[in-house]
Amino acid sequence: MCGIVGYNGPRNPKDVILDGLRRLEYRGYDSAGVAILHNGEFKRVRASGKLSELSKKLEGEAFGGRLGIGHTRWATHGVPSERNAHPHKVEGVSLVHNGIIENYQEIKQELRQLGAEFTSDTDSELVAHLIARQVRATGDLFKAVQQVIPRLKGAYSILAVWEKQPDTLVAFKNGPPLILGIGDDEIIVASDVQAIVSYTKKVIYLDDFEIAHVRGSDYKLFSATGEPLRKPVHVLNWNADAIEKAGFRHFMLKEIYEQPRAVAQAIAPHIDLERMRVRLSGVGFGVPYEKLEGLDAEQDAAKTAQQLSGIDRIFIVACGTSYYAGQVGKYLLEILARVPVETDIASEFRYREPVIPPHSLVIVISQSGETADTLAALRLAKQAGAMTMSICNVKRSSIDREAQGHLYMNSGVEIGVASTKAFVSTLALLNLFALFVARSRGQLTAEQEKHHLEALLAVPAQMETVLSYDKWFGEAAEQLKGYRGILYMARGANYPIAMEGALKLKELAYMHAEGYAAGEMKHGPLALIDERMLIMMVAPTDHHYEKTLSNLEEAKARGGHIISLGTGDNQELKRLSQYYLSLPKAEWTVSPILAVIPLQLLAYHVADNLGHDVDQPRNLAKSVTVE
Ligand code: F6R
Repeated sequence: MCGIVGYNGPRNPKDVILDGLRRLEYRGYDSAGVAILHNGEFKRVRASGKLSELSKKLEGEAFGGRLGIGHTRWATHGVPSERNAHPHKVEGVSLVHNGIIENYQEIKQELRQLGAEFTSDTDSELVAHLIARQVRATGDLFKAVQQVIPRLKGAYSILAVWEKQPDTLVAFKNGPPLILGIGDDEIIVASDVQAIVSYTKKVIYLDDFEIAHVRGSDYKLFSATGEPLRKPVHVLNWNADAIEKAGFRHFMLKEIYEQPRAVAQAIAPHIDLERMRVRLSGVGFGVPYEKLEGLDAEQDAAKTAQQLSGIDRIFIVACGTSYYAGQVGKYLLEILARVPVETDIASEFRYREPVIPPHSLVIVISQSGETADTLAALRLAKQAGAMTMSICNVKRSSIDREAQGHLYMNSGVEIGVASTKAFVSTLALLNLFALFVARSRGQLTAEQEKHHLEALLAVPAQMETVLSYDKWFGEAAEQLKGYRGILYMARGANYPIAMEGALKLKELAYMHAEGYAAGEMKHGPLALIDERMLIMMVAPTDHHYEKTLSNLEEAKARGGHIISLGTGDNQELKRLSQYYLSLPKAEWTVSPILAVIPLQLLAYHVADNLGHDVDQPRNLAKSVTVE
């Protein structure tokens, strides 16, 4: 969703803001703009389309001041256009906004009655009007913002500047993230650390209903009601190199290749290699967030085991790819630990009045940790009295901070809008979590636990071999893109992988795709099959294999063209398929981690071959901070 960058310091604000916005491009956007101080006023330049359009317009533009704000907009109210692009400017107040003002109709009507005229169709412009009215009354931007906050309903993060106070920037939030980067003689405010990490590693994470009052390189923090706040400054431990393409054509391809490492990093903290036991480390159920880092791993693992042993039911709630990871988790937890598990799409869960019995654990999964529906589902689960745990990639994200227990994907920054490495890290974590719960409930012998851990530890090396299909899909893409659509099918823990494969093709190649449980074929989708429909059948040698084979025979008999994914050198699958791709022999628990890689590569190469923007597919955003 929208990206925000504000700069107050001695460098050229135009350069810092453009660089920051470029690093936030992955969030998805359709227009961009800046307002930078020059000769006592904030000069505004905006452009529809990509940042390159804005850069072209900014070429040769000189700015004399130290202060500026910038924005990449992902349209919610009003079409993507220059007129609707941010910053919005009303009587010397310039403002950028991420989120949605839910009561904008009411505010608009009120402002209209007061004679206001609007130059855009956005909800954001209304906030600029409200602040402009208040600065007129108070003569102070900070006070004006304080008075406007209670008027706003919805989710928002906002930066505002006013030309009568040319050293001041005010930032406030309720919902989408805002971060303050603290440099030596400069402050950068942004939606995400990516935008600031080249300038400073020191960051403050604003919480909801907090205001940052930045004057020059000084900052003060307040609650929305004006109480001064002291907040810790965190020091980031990664650098700007982590967010470069490192020679790959796209971030997505780089991230696909980073998957073996991502899995290794996700599981490393949680395995006691000497005893070959899972030792969930740092989950910290109920420990205050700021104290998590000082936890004693052994003690916490023992406490976590005890807390989980009393759980009667688990809910896993997430959106999109994270939801499919959760569905794999259901197979793992039910089969290994024998706990009933319900999986839910967050936007359904939050509105369906779910029955959450006592002794329930609600696990929310979110790479970004900011997905609005998932965050709302988490809050609902807490209100219902459930124990909650998050699986996030972004530490200190809203979901991570609000959950009672925490696991981290540890995948490193994921820039491609289509999630890949965070997905496999989550599968690996759910694997460990299922083993841990199974042991806590007496469902797993030490021997079985060791066996499953060995399978998981072997998986990063096995993933490397599957990555070699990159070349094959690169060559096959030309032909594959000619199909009317692709039907992905599988059984068991690989069934969610079929759905994930279909989602990837839809979002990247904009081709029609369906993910189905192979056993459902006769109940409808068989009618879709002809020689223009490609079937991707995930059929590893497991206890579903014979049944999947029959499904494949049925598809072949109806003229379907088949790519099958099987284990080792499988002659039967070769006979039935146009193309056969071999996966390494693996336990069913880790098979989804291997099987998803060819499906990611397929979507990537077909989309690239079609000339699509693979890292930023149309209409999509990386961090979905509005519902
Ligand atoms: C698809 C994809 C999305 C996300 C979804 C949830 O490739 O990446 O479906 O999985 O928007 O995002 P997070 O995990 O950040 O909550």
